Amino acid sequence: MIPIKTEKEIEIMRQAGQILSDVIKKIVPYVCRGVSTLELDQLAEKLIYQAGAKPGFKGYSDKKKIYPATLCTSINEHVVHTIPKRNKFLKDGDIISLDCGVKYKGYYSDMAITVAVGKIPYKTKELIKTTKEALEVAIKNIKEGVYLGDISHLIQSFVEKKGFSVVRQLSGHGIGKELHEKPTILNYGKKGTGPILKSGMVLAFEPMVNMGDWPVKTLKDGWTIVTEDGSLSAHFEHTILVTKKGAEVLTKM
Ligand code: MF3
Ligand code: CO
Repeated sequence: MIPIKTEKEIEIMRQAGQILSDVIKKIVPYVCRGVSTLELDQLAEKLIYQAGAKPGFKGYSDKKKIYPATLCTSINEHVVHTIPKRNKFLKDGDIISLDCGVKYKGYYSDMAITVAVGKIPYKTKELIKTTKEALEVAIKNIKEGVYLGDISHLIQSFVEKKGFSVVRQLSGHGIGKELHEKPTILNYGKKGTGPILKSGMVLAFEPMVNMGDWPVKTLKDGWTIVTEDGSLSAHFEHTILVTKKGAEVLTKM
């Protein structure tokens, strides 16, 4: 069963989403050559506590491992879940996905954006733009009564038309009292399949798009996911409320 949130829960999740998007907005100006990913992480953490919330990822346990940071800072061929490091400095030409979660009054919000450091080539800009637009296409088509598979299919076909690929081993998710709730949200799929969206569902859509082929692998640290072919990867995510009229983006910037 996919949880349906009450109006009271939705109001809290709106606040959680607002806190999170404000934090992301405030971090972006610090993304520049020479900054370390740990500095970005510490800034995010400070801003989250100032807003009266808690980091949503720190302490998250996935079977055996515990995620140790507030942000995931995945650079270039890193797809997601890269742990920020004191000695990892951004350089011109990098692209970085800033993925962050907050917990506020018992409810989670989850969001990611990909930004460039300095100048990047045209094709890399296209990769970022395509990933962002794939999420926007999904958002425009979300509403009560639609099959989740229709949205997954839209994301996949949009991305593949641009000559890029969607990661298949990772997915989006429902979100609420838990960071990851039902359903699993694939970024590829067939029309007319999967659950039918209902008003009151809160879902985190997060397309991950590779410049090369879709397979990814996990590095030895057990967290960092990278493209198998070493090609660049971009990631955008929003926490979204399904309504009768359409999608309400709870993490709108
Ligand atoms: N947005 C990511 C996800 O939904 C971030 C999770 S990082 C983790 O999986 F550490 F919390 F796993
Ligand atoms: Co997520």
